[in-house]
Amino acid sequence: MTTHRAFRWPSLLTESGRGIAFGGDYNPDQWPEETLDEDIRLMGEAGVNVVSLAIFSWDKIEPVEGAFTFEWLDHVIDRLGRAGIAVDLASATAAAPLWLYESHPEVLPVDRYGHTVNAGSRQSWQPTSPVFKEYALRLCRRLAEHYKDNPYVTAWHMGNEYGWNNRYDYSDNALAAFRTWCEAKYGTIDALNEAWGTAFWSQHVNSFDEVLLPRHMGGDAMVNPSQQLDYERFGNDMLLDFYKAERDAIEQICPDKPFTTNFMVSTDQCVMNYAKWADEVDFVSNDHYFHEGESHLDELACSDALMDSLALGKPWYVMEHSTSAVQWKPLNTRKRAGELMRDSLAHVAMGADAICFFQWRQSKSGAEAFHSAMLPHAGADSKVFRGVCELGKALKTLSDAGLQGTELERAGTAILFSAESEWATRSETLPSMKLNHWHDVRDWYRGFLDAGLRADVVPLAYDWTGYKTIVLPTVLSLSDEDVLRIADFAKAGGTVIVGYAAGLIDEHFHIGLGGYPGAGNGLLRDMLGIRSEEFNILGEEAEGEPSEISLSNGLTTRLWQNDVTSVAADTTVLASYAGESAADWELERTPAITSRPYGNGTAIYVGCDLNRHDIAQLLKALGSRWQELSAQPTESGQTPTYPTTDPRILHTIRRSADGSTRFDFYLNRSNQPVAVNGIEGEPIIAYRCEADTTGYTLNRNAILIAKASC
Ligand code: GLA
Ligand code: GLA
Repeated sequence: MTTHRAFRWPSLLTESGRGIAFGGDYNPDQWPEETLDEDIRLMGEAGVNVVSLAIFSWDKIEPVEGAFTFEWLDHVIDRLGRAGIAVDLASATAAAPLWLYESHPEVLPVDRYGHTVNAGSRQSWQPTSPVFKEYALRLCRRLAEHYKDNPYVTAWHMGNEYGWNNRYDYSDNALAAFRTWCEAKYGTIDALNEAWGTAFWSQHVNSFDEVLLPRHMGGDAMVNPSQQLDYERFGNDMLLDFYKAERDAIEQICPDKPFTTNFMVSTDQCVMNYAKWADEVDFVSNDHYFHEGESHLDELACSDALMDSLALGKPWYVMEHSTSAVQWKPLNTRKRAGELMRDSLAHVAMGADAICFFQWRQSKSGAEAFHSAMLPHAGADSKVFRGVCELGKALKTLSDAGLQGTELERAGTAILFSAESEWATRSETLPSMKLNHWHDVRDWYRGFLDAGLRADVVPLAYDWTGYKTIVLPTVLSLSDEDVLRIADFAKAGGTVIVGYAAGLIDEHFHIGLGGYPGAGNGLLRDMLGIRSEEFNILGEEAEGEPSEISLSNGLTTRLWQNDVTSVAADTTVLASYAGESAADWELERTPAITSRPYGNGTAIYVGCDLNRHDIAQLLKALGSRWQELSAQPTESGQTPTYPTTDPRILHTIRRSADGSTRFDFYLNRSNQPVAVNGIEGEPIIAYRCEADTTGYTLNRNAILIAKASC
């Protein structure tokens, strides 16, 4: 189902080329020349072995149109390389120089109101601008020619966070490209009219020349959701095409070095459909910024679980995270003692083989001066820099122990994620504007952890047939083909858990008829053995009305209940709505959670939203079967030790390809000390842990890593 480019991982400048990569974005061009000496000395002290260079340096490389100056960059790369620090070299196209905007203002994006975006920031260019592409590709080719044989450049870092600032462009170039994209997708205008449901509001399109972008349409500006979803896909595809053009321009000249670009996978955003992007890089990399508050570690693990799937189980790269606070949120909390190390090693526990930060040296000026870095304003005599050095040592220990290249062991459950459903849940035309697919994925992920289980997060489009259980939390959009795959999975013996707002629409944002959930021409509904007719939507806004409803098993729902009006004879009702609020909303005794045998498997329906605590309760109530469901024999035939029984511990395992070595990672999810006994193998890192006769006590933000031969 997936056609990834072959996995290629960048070498380090160590003798073997191997080891966990450690470093960050490096912007020496923003500092006086003398700083370089100190940087290289301190990088050595910290154990830095890679930097990402020249990400925003286009104006230094091509200060005036057509005049390229590589001397400064040659010098920096040479100094770094001789100090044993590899370079992940940027294509440098993420921020264009001002001269380009002076001569070609037509490359600037246009917002949905028709205003041209101004120059002066990052990604201020239209992905569909032929003029911009010409300049960008020329720069790519010049860089490739100049650095193709440089032994210190070991990877290409294409662009930077594609789409961060130019995800939505409503320019005339975009319009023309959208028309072409629609024609390629639909072939005939009738097919587009059908897909977009244009019979509504006089929107019939006579030819592809009449296709419009979903620009602002005035006060009653509800966009046709089918058109909007295609526009989301189109924007993703245009940026991906742009990336590919840049990559190909370099690859033609320099085919030997691996390519990546930093994704933005984090459960508060879904800029791109990275299930597609992962096909086009040689190794996947991510920028992840921690979420403040109690979800900190869980959120990180959930985002990383998706990264691990995008990497098809191969190691992946943390291209950016922060040593402490960022500066771009309304409120920027710093990291507590231990969190710098813990977060970094948590990424490793989730499959990362490279731990990098934004950025090496904290800026003195500019928009990001208050963003933490590896070397802070306070200088080397600082908690943060000492923490960075300590991390460098820990990563060296893991490198020496042979961790690099081991793969994260899969869980038995896949929670399915779909970027398209995430985009669809953002539509303003749904029964509730509070729907959020990604957040529901995160809640289910945390619910599994709270139940002492671990799940993976897998793109819907990928192959999840090897799992025992799949969960579809608010996978709003399911095509007929998706539903067939799901039903086949259940028939073959799998367990399918379908959430309250899954399968309401197809890939064109058309409602499946005949009762909810109607996806797959009713197949999803039939598989579950339920049918509902209306949604019961709750919220504080409905003043004086009950805003939560109890279930007969003690759980609570607060957002959305499906009014299930019929169940098949062989469907078991596991819980129904109960109590006063249920009676008030005329839902008393209405089935809320059901289970039905389907083929050799089971189809479970969760017809209302639940918070993560209640999800954990539900999972536990489903019984000891979960022990069995979530354990999956490894390829080498051993039965893994999942699930961990103590929900306060996040336990992951990385194994060598030949199965001879395993690394067990134990992270404390709670704020209190937790005891871990009976670990396998020899501890190689016991950070913020205390050993006693039976095992270890893991303090807050602790991590214990043990190595065992199998
Ligand atoms: C208005 C419009 C209708 C419809 C309804 C929906 O009254 O005239 O076309 O959009 O709102 O409530
Ligand atoms: C992004 C960018 C970096 C920097 C960081 C700040 O990830 O790629 O250049 O702006 O955000 O957190």
